[in-house]
Amino acid sequence: MITTTAKNRIGMPLVGFGTYQLSTGQAEVAVTAALKAGYRHIDAAEGYNNEAGTGRAIKDAGLQRQELFITTKLFPGNKLWGAPEKTYVQTLDTLKKQLKDLQLDHVDLYLIHAPLSELRLEQWNALVELKRLGLTKHIGVSNYNEALIQEILDAGMPQPEANQIEFHPVCAQVSLTQYMNAHTIAPIAYSSLAPLSAWRADEGQGGDVLAELKNECQEAARDIASKLRVTEAKLLLRWGLQHGYAVLTKSNKPERIRENLNLFDFEIPEVDMVALNRLDRSQAFAWASNGMNPMEVAPPLHR
Ligand SMILES: NC(=O)c1ccc[n+]([C@@H]2O[C@H](COP(=O)([O-])OP(=O)(O)OC[C@H]3O[C@@H](n4cnc5c(N)ncnc54)[C@H](OP(=O)(O)O)[C@@H]3O)[C@@H](O)[C@H]2O)c1
Repeated sequence: MITTTAKNRIGMPLVGFGTYQLSTGQAEVAVTAALKAGYRHIDAAEGYNNEAGTGRAIKDAGLQRQELFITTKLFPGNKLWGAPEKTYVQTLDTLKKQLKDLQLDHVDLYLIHAPLSELRLEQWNALVELKRLGLTKHIGVSNYNEALIQEILDAGMPQPEANQIEFHPVCAQVSLTQYMNAHTIAPIAYSSLAPLSAWRADEGQGGDVLAELKNECQEAARDIASKLRVTEAKLLLRWGLQHGYAVLTKSNKPERIRENLNLFDFEIPEVDMVALNRLDRSQAFAWASNGMNPMEVAPPLHR
């Protein structure tokens, strides 16, 4: 049942607050507003360079630790960008440093942010150890396709408990979702609002990339949202929930922060779910302003 207090298989509240494209100060203000609005699931990352702000907001909120579900991610490094790839030991040290910034003694979920490194199996092995040490309750991956998850299974290592991926009607991830369900890997959606013209609309945020591919989805979302008397943002987030995903959403505007959490007072009828499902173009947008789809760029692994 999709209810306000429902959680997925790893105990994650179904709506999470994201912290990408926020400065440290903005993250502190936005996460404070999100916790005040009732979010209990926060999504952070080493690569967002703002975890100290997120940490201050969490500390100042004064909530019980067990009420919160905090995810963060390892930046794995990437040879193509000249960013050193993290070894096993560096991966262990990275989460320890992140925990200091977040002012926490453990996170609830630790993810490899993307399969950008040839050391990804070594990094996965370090995540297994971080879980054993109690520094994270659960471990998972992000931007992994079926082949990359299978690579972990084929290496005889524990399987990821979650995979965080771009998911919205234009990028509907049909076969990957089936694969994750079959392997009981919790699906987490990011950039659910990517089809909207308001998504990353500020200068330099990258929302204008491939904008013409979103027209059909925008028209359908407008019609269905108006019929259901909800905003297009609520419609797209709810579409993710009805597909069994936990959804992440970010805003630095208090009104939108509240709106994006309020997804439990309506349901998308089957006929409209089918209409939205038909808009799939397997097109990801979130990383496209860097000219890449992280699920397709994994370099070959040197064994
Ligand atoms: N693992 C990965 O590779 C990855 C990639 C991308 C994102 N993520 C995570 O997922 C989170 C969510 O993704 P996202 O940042 O793309 O968030 P999103 O919620 O899909 O989109 C945020 C954008 O939509 C706007 N917006 C938010 N609420 C709105 C509303 N109700 N109506 C109209 N526009 C609205 C925001 O503008 P304002 O801020 O101006 O309101 C912002 O430009 C991230 O913050 C991050 O934590 C992970």
